[in-house]
Amino acid sequence: MLAALAGETRSRPPFWLMRQAGRYLPEYRELRAKAGSFLDLCYNPDFAVEVTLQPLRRYGMDAAILFSDILVVPHALGQPLAYLEGEGPKLDPIRSAAELSRLSRDRFHQTLEPVYETVRRLTTAIPANASPDTTLIGFAGAPWTIACYMVEGGGSKEYAHVKRWAYGDPAGFARLIDLLVEVTADYLCAQIEAGAEVVQLFDSWAGVLPIGPFRRWVIEPTRRIVALVKARHPDTPIIGFPRGAGHAYQDYVADSGVDAVGLDTTVSPLWAARNLQTRLPVQGNLDPILLATGGKALCEGAAEILEAFCDRPYVFNLGHGVIQTTPPEHVGALADQIRRWPERG
Ligand code: CP3
Repeated sequence: MLAALAGETRSRPPFWLMRQAGRYLPEYRELRAKAGSFLDLCYNPDFAVEVTLQPLRRYGMDAAILFSDILVVPHALGQPLAYLEGEGPKLDPIRSAAELSRLSRDRFHQTLEPVYETVRRLTTAIPANASPDTTLIGFAGAPWTIACYMVEGGGSKEYAHVKRWAYGDPAGFARLIDLLVEVTADYLCAQIEAGAEVVQLFDSWAGVLPIGPFRRWVIEPTRRIVALVKARHPDTPIIGFPRGAGHAYQDYVADSGVDAVGLDTTVSPLWAARNLQTRLPVQGNLDPILLATGGKALCEGAAEILEAFCDRPYVFNLGHGVIQTTPPEHVGALADQIRRWPERG
């Protein structure tokens, strides 16, 4: 994984899967029931370490991703957060600059200390439970996506509240984004100092913005975070994942400063190989629904992507997270196919 991110072309590409730990695994569901709430799981290093290791024991991915959630950042800023069964995350929404006074950095690192402890423990738990070459990935949500959840108060179809604030009061909205830039850079640095070898910035809702606001609220905050993290940790690769960016992927790659880019499911592999992978390593982009489908469709879909990306630096992944109804044996079949690559037939 580290070699691929440093620009080496591997004959067999490294692989990991977004949401590789989670509800599709029976052992996750069992531990989740014991932990109580999802946040208890994220903030309990014993549980979080165990859940991080679960997919590695089954499938031996080349990377482990810290088990946590992107929304611990607004939670650590003091915004009340709950995960409701079947409804996803709910936050008390913040919809104007005046309401920013409800946030505070005072207890930020204190709240996130169990996350750092999880990372520290993983640096020894991974070599004891999986291949010592397994790369440890830390992560955070990018400011735009975190702001989407903070302002909407959860998931949304239109993102109308957050867009109206960003369009109608850009100076006020910039105060929220500036705060998120600073704390996110700090948070990623703390994960790196605890032992994360790579970090990924998830910008799951990058694709809802037109190009002008995309530059201002996606590319620019990402560029600032990359610069802040690089100033302290110049050698740690940063993967950016601006999901849904479409044509703006090219601008993101040119201007954000990320070391590698995660491609969503809609990006054409051949287009990306020609227009993005010639500039930096790419990661992606198998449709998670193909993984849930399995069989011949999965096998052909994975082969097409491997074929498109195998001649340049590449990390195999999905174009979004593993979905809950994925049969675990499909993940095993995919892992075998990648490991056998480039053997054909
Ligand atoms: O294995 C891994 O990838 C590591 C852990 C991880 C989780 N969430 C665990 C999780 C990571 C990297 C995330 C990132 C995340 N969280 C994103 C960015 C990636 C993406 O999916 O676009 C976003 C937008 C979130 C916010 C979030 N967390 C939502 C919308 C939900 C509810 C939807 C759902 O799938 O339940 C969560 C909850 C969540 N995060 C779960 C897990 C395993 C399920 C919680 C449960 O067990 O009930």
